[in-house]
Order: sequence, then structure tokens, then C-alpha cells
Amino acid sequence: MAEWQRTHTCGELRDLHIGQMVVLNGWVNTFRGYNDQVFVDIRDRYGITQVVLEADDPAIVAVGKEIGREFVISVAGKVAARLPGKDNAKMATGKIEVKAAKVAILNRCPTPPFEITEFGTEIANEDLRLQYRYLDLRRKSLQNVLIIRHRLNKVIRDHLDFQGFLEMETPLLGKSTPEGARDYLVPSRVWHGEWYALPQSPQLYKQLLMVAGYDKYFQIARCLRDEDLRADRQPEFTQLDVEMSFVEMDDIFRVVEGLVADIFHRVLGINITTPLPRLKYAEAMLKYGSDKPDLRFGMEITEVSDLAGQSEFKVFKDVLAAGGVVRGLNARKAADKFSNTDLKPGGKLSEFVAGYKAKGLAWMKVEADKFTGSIEKFFGPEQQKSLRERFKAEAGDVLLFVADQEPVVCDALGALRSHLAAQLKLYTNWWERGEDAKPTADDFKIAWVIDFPSFMYDAEEKRWVANHHPFTAPRDEHIAHLESDPGKVLAKAYDLVINGYEVGGGSIRIHNPEVQSRVFTALGMPIEDAKQRFGFLLDALKFGAPPHGGIALGLDRFAMMLAGTTNIRDVIAFPKNQRARDLMTGAPAPVESRQLKDLGLMT
Ligand code: AMO
Ligand code: AMP
Repeated sequence: MAEWQRTHTCGELRDLHIGQMVVLNGWVNTFRGYNDQVFVDIRDRYGITQVVLEADDPAIVAVGKEIGREFVISVAGKVAARLPGKDNAKMATGKIEVKAAKVAILNRCPTPPFEITEFGTEIANEDLRLQYRYLDLRRKSLQNVLIIRHRLNKVIRDHLDFQGFLEMETPLLGKSTPEGARDYLVPSRVWHGEWYALPQSPQLYKQLLMVAGYDKYFQIARCLRDEDLRADRQPEFTQLDVEMSFVEMDDIFRVVEGLVADIFHRVLGINITTPLPRLKYAEAMLKYGSDKPDLRFGMEITEVSDLAGQSEFKVFKDVLAAGGVVRGLNARKAADKFSNTDLKPGGKLSEFVAGYKAKGLAWMKVEADKFTGSIEKFFGPEQQKSLRERFKAEAGDVLLFVADQEPVVCDALGALRSHLAAQLKLYTNWWERGEDAKPTADDFKIAWVIDFPSFMYDAEEKRWVANHHPFTAPRDEHIAHLESDPGKVLAKAYDLVINGYEVGGGSIRIHNPEVQSRVFTALGMPIEDAKQRFGFLLDALKFGAPPHGGIALGLDRFAMMLAGTTNIRDVIAFPKNQRARDLMTGAPAPVESRQLKDLGLMT
């Protein structure tokens, strides 16, 4: 061992080490110089230790004068008790300090572009942090997240291995997978004019592994999708991909629930209750306006089309006559939180729903014996009484209504519900409860959403499109409607939802080639096209495909839940920014023309 190499980490020393000679290696976190002493806090990923450089040794004083923040140093010295009253109860190493006998600078650092410590400082601008991600990653909070991700992967591997699953890898260079986003394409040098597609998921390969007889498969797989980014979306992300043979939905739920419970237990020390509740898609849309409802609070959407139809309000009557619906929310005890100006056209809340294509927001404030607001005059006494009952309205509440075609109403009220819940503090995010806050089981509302429609009508393209991917099995009793009424067909598909995030999705697959062909036809895909794109899968289904199904959990989103953040970039070591750029390496970037010529993309 070289003289400068560490004997202990910076998080390790306690009072039982007092008197020992040790060597520490790490980064200079902070330093404070006095006439006769310099205190240096030296940091590595295990913690921080206070080192004292004393003036009686000129060599040490000389080094002490040179060092700066983020220098890498080696300190040899003796562990000593801190002076009485100088203990730091917040630091694991707070009872001791190391009296330096020798200090060596292993490497220097210019003034960092932002503060790396997190003590009371504002976190620097995200673009700057992404540009110097290797410095950002020195922060404790990011270290904690990466440790959580490590634990997450480890629990998954242990758990599924124990259950008899095999971890298998599938190609990155392959054919396009139909998950609904744009593909990232890779040109072939050998076959000019032909392209590989990077996988949007390992969907087709995992089904082929089932045909091949590997009945319990999993993979921690990188997936690539060229789509518009959001706070919970990255162009490359990681899935836990699972597939099983000879199963029905309940079998998959059991496996995933066991795994999810083990993850919460072993990563956060929390016991969640299983089996998880199941919510039908139609009910989720009606009550929460979303297929990934946040169940941490109530404030359910209420259907009032019937009462609106009896009113004299022309906007409502016209919408109903055009086949639309009228639904509303009760923002309890919120009357004094919103001024009439907030509620009126052009006000904050109207503008909010306008962002979801709603043409307006009608409202009434509830008083003990009457309503006030914009539209109460259009409702007779009987209808007002019914509204009061239906919304369980009490004095001080505000009723908010949107009238439109159903998808717009769901979208607008679903978003308004989440917006208001955050504003009215109907729930708290555990990490906002203080520095050392820990989550409890009550902080996570986890549910399955089931009974999705197989197809959605795309009004722009005037055709049915697959709601999940086209290999999703319809419910057996609905197969007969495939040609006559595709909108009626429900799928054996399910999503796993945590606190308003879609953390996973999967389905039982079609294993019958004839049903698979009929689904392609229902999707308006001529069988020749289907054969050209997925012929290998259609062929494989003919060669004795077992009944099978599976799921993929978005591990970045799962890590967001476990780490307590709403920004997916916080849980990825080297993420892209919101415009799909890696600010550290500069990717995407131009390449040399020689490379383009090799690929036949330039002459
Ligand atoms: P799906 O497309 O629903 O299903 O993806 C599964 C899960 O992956 C996560 N996810 C993402 N996370 C971050 N950034 C993205 N751009 C992104 N896109 C998806 C979500 C989502 O629930 N092959 C099917 C699974 C199956 O049927 O087994 C699939 O990929 O958490
Ligand atoms: P108006 O009759 O256009 O003056 O609108 C009266 C009230 O109804 C205003 O508060 C509007 O925001 C609201 N409103 C208008 N269109 C809709 C709609 N489609 N859904 C709900 N409220 C609406």
C-alpha cells in the first residue's frame, strides 16, 4: 500500500478509534483558517471528517495555505476526541477529529462553478449542474439517489432469481418495436440504405423467448424513445421487463405485488399492504379524469350532466345536445382561497383549464342557504338542492364545472383536481416535511388500473389505434367485437400507478396467430404490412406459442417515488436535459464526413 492510501473512509471514524493513527483520502469540503490552526472537512461518499492542521509544523502550515475547495488530499494523523462542547451531533464522525501529522495534495481543483455542499445553499441552476455532472454527483442527495437505484436493482435481481426467473439480454440493434413513440435509428454501414431501430422496449424479443420456452424471464433493459420530454420522461430510460408463460392476469399481479412489497421493504423499510387495489379504467376516468389517478386525496369528479340538462344554462345545454358531458369538482372550504376574479373567464383557474382545451370554467360558491357565482341563476331550487346533495356541498365550498366532449372534460378536470389538491395541500410530499423526513406506508397510494379499452379512435387519422401495443390480448368475450365494434373491446391490460405516476404497464399477449391478424386488421394495418414489420412474430406464434403475458416497470419513475423527487433527471447519473441534449458531453454532435460516407449518408 502506498503511503498516501487510506486506512479508513471519511465516514468511518468514531470515538472507539481515538488514539489510532489513520490515513484518510477525500475532497476538501470546507476549510476554516485561524492563526494557529486550519480546520479542514474532508469528504468522500461515506461521509465527512474534520481534520486539524496545527501551526507548530511548518510543512503542514504550507500545505494548509495551498489547499482549496474540492482539492483531493491525503491526511495521515491521529484520531483525537474533540474539545469539550465542540462535538457535532449531526455528523456521524462528530465526536472525533484527526490531528494531521502529514498532508499531501493528490490533485488540485479550480474554483468549482457551483457550491457542492448542500448546507443551506441554494441548489445551482440545473443546466450548469448537468454540464458539470461529475461535480453535481458529489452531492450527498444525488449519492443517496444512486444508492437507492443500486438497491432497487439488487432487490429486483435477488427477488426474481429466488422466484426462478432468468435474467436475459436482448439486442439493442434490431427492428422497430411498436410502443407508439418515434424510433432512434442507426444506419447500417454494411447495408447502405438500411437501418436498425434501437428498442423502445424488448417487447417482441421477450415474447419470442416465451415461444422458446423460457417461461420466467426478466431484464433490466435500457429503452430508447424519441418523444417529447416531460418531468417524468427521458429519451433513454430503464425498464424492468418481465414476461411469463402459462399465466393469467392474477398470476402476474401476484408476482409484481410480491416484488413491489419487497422493494418498499428493503429499500425504504416500509411495509405496503397487498393485494393492491384494482381500479377499472372507466371508473378512473370518471372519478379522477386520468388513467393514472393520484389516490392520496379524494376530491372526486362528479357527473352532473342530468342536472345540467335541466338547467337554463345555454352553454351546458348546447354541449349536451352535441353529445358532450358536464362534470364538476367540489373544492372544499376553498371559497376564501379563490377570488371571483380568479374564477372568472381570464382568471387563473379558467386559464389553467384552458391549457387542457376546456372552453370555460363555470363555478358556484356555496353558502349556507344559497349559491353565488356565475351560473347559479340558471338552476332552479330543486336542481340547486340536488347539486348540493350530489357534491355533498357545505358552506365555504366552491363547485367548479367543465362542459365539453368527454375526453376534454376528463383531461381538464383531472388536471384541475391535481392542481387544486397541491394548492389546497390535500396531501404532503414526504420529502417536504423537513430535512430528515422519512416516508411511511401512508405516503404511497399504489393501485392497478385494469380493463383498458384495446383501441382508441384517432379522430385526426380517422382510424383505430392500439391503446397499449398491438400484441395485447382482448378479453376473450370481446374478441367477437373486433370487427363490428372495436371501441367496445376491453384488453387484458393493466398499469401500475403510484401517487399519480404510471410506474408500470403490461398485458396478457395474443398467442393465437389468427386473433393477432384480426387485431392488425382492426388497426387498419393490411396483413402484408403486418407481415413485413412483424412477420417473425406472426411466424413464431404459429410454432407453438404458449399463453403468456408480462409487464414493464419504469425503474426511473420507481426510483423517483423511492427517492422523493418529481424530476426524473434527479434519479439518472447522466441524464439528457429537457431538449434531449447531454450538456456534459455535448451529444448530439456533428460527426466527421468520413463517417457519413462510410454509412452511405453522404457522397
Ligand atoms: P410502456 O410503454 O407502458 O410498456 O412502458 C412501461 C413503463 O416504462 C416507463 N416509461 C418511461 N419512463 C421514462 N421515460 C420514458 N420516456 C418512458 N416511457 C415509458 C413507464 C411505463 O409504465 N412493452 C411494454 C410493456 C409490456 O407490455 O410488458 C411497454 O414498454 O413507467
Ligand atoms: P359565458 O356565457 O360565455 O359568459 O360564460 C359564463 C360562464 O360559463 C363563465 O364562467 C365561463 O367560464 C363558463 N363557461 C363557458 N363555457 C364553458 C364550458 N364549456 N364549460 C364550463 N364552463 C363554461
